[in-house]
Amino acid sequence: MKIGIDAIAMDTPDFYVDLVTLAKVRGDDPDKYTIGIGQDEQAVPPSSQDIVTMGANAASQLVTPAIRASIGMVLVGTESGVDASKSAALFIHQLLDLPEWVRAVELKEACYGGTAALMMARDYVAGHPDKSVLVIAADIARYGLATAGEVTQGAGAVAMIVKAEPRLITIEPDSVYRSTSINDFWRPIYQDTAIAQGKYSTEQYLAFFQAVWDRYQEENKLTADNFAGMTFHLPYTKMGKKALDLALPKAEPQTVKRLKERFDASTRYCRRIGNIYTGSLYLGLLSLLDHDATLQAGDRIGLFSYGSGAVAEFFSGILQPGFSDQLQSAVHARQLDERQQLTVPAYEALFSDKVPYDPEDYRPDPAYFRGQFVLTGVVGQERLYEKRPAHASNATQQLD
Ligand code: HMG
Repeated sequence: MKIGIDAIAMDTPDFYVDLVTLAKVRGDDPDKYTIGIGQDEQAVPPSSQDIVTMGANAASQLVTPAIRASIGMVLVGTESGVDASKSAALFIHQLLDLPEWVRAVELKEACYGGTAALMMARDYVAGHPDKSVLVIAADIARYGLATAGEVTQGAGAVAMIVKAEPRLITIEPDSVYRSTSINDFWRPIYQDTAIAQGKYSTEQYLAFFQAVWDRYQEENKLTADNFAGMTFHLPYTKMGKKALDLALPKAEPQTVKRLKERFDASTRYCRRIGNIYTGSLYLGLLSLLDHDATLQAGDRIGLFSYGSGAVAEFFSGILQPGFSDQLQSAVHARQLDERQQLTVPAYEALFSDKVPYDPEDYRPDPAYFRGQFVLTGVVGQERLYEKRPAHASNATQQLD
């Protein structure tokens, strides 16, 4: 039985900051951001958008009556959880009015949490072939204003339906994974910004890639030449490029050309959105599928997942007949093009206006309400979400 991703959708905030503009304000050379790091724009979430609203906005695009009837689990991979106890899956379950006869759970291991959810979904479908699983990977990457990590921030969600006989891409049973406890990046529970040992984290990302890639080739008797494309966890696009370079030394010249071109296609959304932690690898897959019209059914795509702390996994998927019918490239292009650019002071104000880590009531600014689902407040220490009417969620109000 084939098991894999039947459908995929994304969501990202309607606001962004231009990174050339940000570089100039920070006194940096813009080439460092656009070439050295490989990022052009960065999604900026208002405080009314969190992993629940973005996850629900992405998932709502996939929950058809047939999925509603077959759904067995709702899994959310995230490291930006909104509660230390209750899972984001339950908030989303309520917003989407999903059936109660499901398991709804949140999974955490830094950026690897989305892959953990995907693999759990795959195993579940193997035992329950008539069931489908809603997998959501959603995060807000925050390092702080004027920090080294600032240029690698971002926000967004990817939702996927995992089921038997998928129409998009299989998840092959060829995974190689590795776990070792290290301190390259973490976030204490009393703050919403991450702590990164920047250079060490990039070295560890590459060391983990090399280790799982070498073992993957050995165990599966496959080399880079067997891949039509390779996608990577993208904390920023240059990081993935360095990992790809490690896979190419023994590849045929045409393989090198093909994998480099398709890598560029896989980075287009990340360049405009930034790091979305758990969803980054799957945003890269979506970007590749949306931007490369030469891919064909039967093509093998490699996926490298890395979560700081650290867990890494390399696996592959095979594109299925008619896979391109499942894609919505034009919708995604419009979604990104219609975002509103913020000035740097406006971005800084939005970054600083956040749900506080204390028991005080808090209300997000309604001027920034966008999309179908919003956080309207935290009152009496309870989070209040709202599903907005279609005409309100489509409105694009201009701000100063
Ligand atoms: P930095 O110190 O500001 O930058 O930190 P740098 O000095 O290392 O420069 C970056 C690159 O720009 C270098 O290229 C420079 O040469 C180049 P490289 O040597 O790497 O190829 N450069 C220029 N290029 C063109 N023109 C110029 C110019 N100037 C410099 N004028 C760092 C960079 C990524 C470390 C920082 O942004 C950071 O700490 N980010 C957060 C941590 C991170 O993203 N780590 C990635 C690996 S860990 C991971 O992926 C997991 C993660 O997603 C979290 C999770 O799992 O949950 C982060």
